[in-house]
Order: sequence, then structure tokens, then C-alpha cells
Amino acid sequence: MTASHTFQHLLIEDRDAVRVVTINRPDKLNALNFEVLTELRDAFAAIAADPAVRAVVLRGAGEKAFVAGADIAELVALSPIQARDFSQHGQRMMRSIELLGKPVVAMIRGYALGGGLELAMSCHLRIAADNAKVGQPEINLGVLPGFGGTQRLLRLAGRGATLELCLTGTPIGAQRAYELGIVNRIVPAEHLEEATFALAAQLAAAAPQALRGILDAVQIGGECGIDAGLDYETQAFAVCTSTNDMREGTRAFLERRKPVFTGA
Ligand code: COA
Repeated sequence: MTASHTFQHLLIEDRDAVRVVTINRPDKLNALNFEVLTELRDAFAAIAADPAVRAVVLRGAGEKAFVAGADIAELVALSPIQARDFSQHGQRMMRSIELLGKPVVAMIRGYALGGGLELAMSCHLRIAADNAKVGQPEINLGVLPGFGGTQRLLRLAGRGATLELCLTGTPIGAQRAYELGIVNRIVPAEHLEEATFALAAQLAAAAPQALRGILDAVQIGGECGIDAGLDYETQAFAVCTSTNDMREGTRAFLERRKPVFTGA
């Protein structure tokens, strides 16, 4: 699969080493139906397999929403078994983003609700426009988050904020989301794209093995405890010393020039 591979609900574009994945259902505020989940799974599998892609921007089409949640029109007709499959399909796809080994930046304009916030939380960094509204409103539909929301929000923002957002279902604005650590940065809506792509370009220019080591060490340490995390950090640190990028980075510092990392 290449960047030009066509999907029904996704737009795929490469800006140098940054792959841009745009969920393209603006008339439904980019709601996640089964097909969108499948296409996202396939798009991220292609990214994982392509060494030319060194960072990713994930965003929603249109001005109103990143993603306004799982597709309620589909949700309404699910049997318990279909609901289980839908939940697992979304969880697996989002887990594949979390474990991608390359940095993924969620660009949040407008609503990131329900599955939209869950998707954004499976990304490694989140940049929000000042008009962003995020929340877990599933309680209002008589269900709970089913794509990892209870778990990732807990890890990102702690128990109090998770219970507040999930139990009340009330969305919060960008400033409150920033204060809770749910988003990394807030920028004026008109500068969102520029700020997101500047960050993604910075990440794409960094040494890929070092990026991977950081992503995996934080993931393992966060899930398995400090000793497993420290052990992994040591191994990843040692692996980096075998790379040309490590030699390039250290030499460039000593030669007072900017390093050029190639991934080798
Ligand atoms: N699933 C399916 N369709 C959705 C959707 C979702 N999660 N969110 C929005 N849409 C659709 C609407 O049905 C509408 O479609 P239509 O024009 O064919 O009727 C279209 O997107 C625009 O949404 P609308 O509700 O008219 O926009 P709004 O500006 O009045 O309200 C929201 C925006 C986000 C507040 C509102 O759409 C909403 O509450 N969405 C559901 C959020 C949610 O509960 N997410 C969790 C799902 S588990």
C-alpha cells in the first residue's frame, strides 16, 4: 500500500516524511463506523511497514470536528455479539496506533467526543484548537466508552478527571483539557494546521530508533512498572549506540552543526 492507495473514508497524503491521515466523513462529523475503523487499521498497518514514514498527523475533515464519536446510527442496531466485535475492532486498531513505534500527532479541531477522544488518546501527542471540545458522552446514550476510553483517560488524566468526564458525559473545552493533561498544546484555530505540521516535521526529522525507544519505554514503563520500564530503557539506549544516527547526532553536536538523521 502506498500513500496514493485510496480509501472510501480516509484521505492519505505524504508531506515529506510525514503521513497525513484525514478521516473524511465531514457530513457525519467524521463518526467512526466499522468501515472507518477497518480503513484506519489498514492505513496504520501500511505506515508501520513503510520506513519512509517517520511521523503521522491524524485529523478529521472539515471545520467542525476531529471525530464526534462512534457512529450512533450503526451503534443503535448492534447485537451484544456485534457490539463486542465493534468494541474489539476499535480497541485493536487504536492499540496498533499506540504501539506503532512512530510518533502520531492528533490534530483536534472542534469536537473530539466519545470514540473521537478515544482515538486521539491512542495517539502520542494531541494539539487542540482553542475551539476544541472533548468528552466521553457515552453515558448519555446508556453505554460507556468501548474503545479504551476508561483506560487511556485514566492513565492520561487520573481517576478524578476520568470519572468526571465518563460519569457526567459533559464535554470540556480546550483550556480545561489542557489543564488536565488531556491535550499537550492549545493553539488558535487559525494556526492549528501550521503548529501541528511544524511539530510533526520536527518529529519526522528526529532519529527513528531513538523515537521508537522513547515511545516503547514510556508505554512499557506505564503498563508494567518501573523495573520493566528501566530494563527496556537500557536495552533501547544500547541499541541506539549501534545506529549511524547516534554517531551523526553526537558528531554534529561536536562539530556545531545540525544533525541529519536517516534512520540507519
Ligand atoms: N454518530 C453518527 N452521526 C453523527 C455523530 C455520531 N457520533 N455525531 C454527529 N453525527 C451526525 C448527525 O447525526 C448529523 O447528521 P445529519 O445531518 O445526517 O442529521 C451530522 O453528523 C451533524 O451533526 P449535528 O448533530 O447536526 O451537529 P451539531 O453541531 O448540532 O452538534 C454534536 C454537534 C457533536 C454536539 C452532536 O452531533 C453530537 O452530540 N454528536 C454525538 C456525540 C456523541 O454522543 N458521541 C459519542 C458516540 S458513542
